[in-house]
Amino acid sequence: MYSEKVMDHFQNPRNVGEIENASGVGTVGNAKCGDIMRIYLDIDENKIIRDCKFKTFGCGAAVATSSMATELVKGKSIEEALKVTNKAVMEALDGLPPVKVHCSLLAEEAIHAALWDYAEKHGIKIDGLEKPKSDIHEGEEEEEEEY
Ligand code: FES
Repeated sequence: MYSEKVMDHFQNPRNVGEIENASGVGTVGNAKCGDIMRIYLDIDENKIIRDCKFKTFGCGAAVATSSMATELVKGKSIEEALKVTNKAVMEALDGLPPVKVHCSLLAEEAIHAALWDYAEKHGIKIDGLEKPKSDIHEGEEEEEEEY
């Protein structure tokens, strides 16, 4: 079933919590199961991810993958963090059962959404980063007045 690493990260998740005044925050949801993931990034002036935390309302596999994903992006540059795909995270966890693969996408999408938020706040463009499709803030922002 689950690898020892998955069980470890599920039972002792790393980097759970929030970052106050985070450089970027991304919140994504999985429409199928309704689970939600939020990632906070603290990025320094050299564009290195100094810290990363997550909060989730999600299943065990989502917790384990997010925990591993936060460990993998910490200390990395933005470009390197973009390479932390759900596949890379699953490999680092020694795999996930096939029915749980979609859960690992939440972490990747939330990291991308947080990087997008960071880029928008700083008026920069990050090569290779696409606008997050399922950022939960999206819908709310559309209703706000532009000024
Ligand atoms: Fe929803 Fe795993 S079942 S993220």
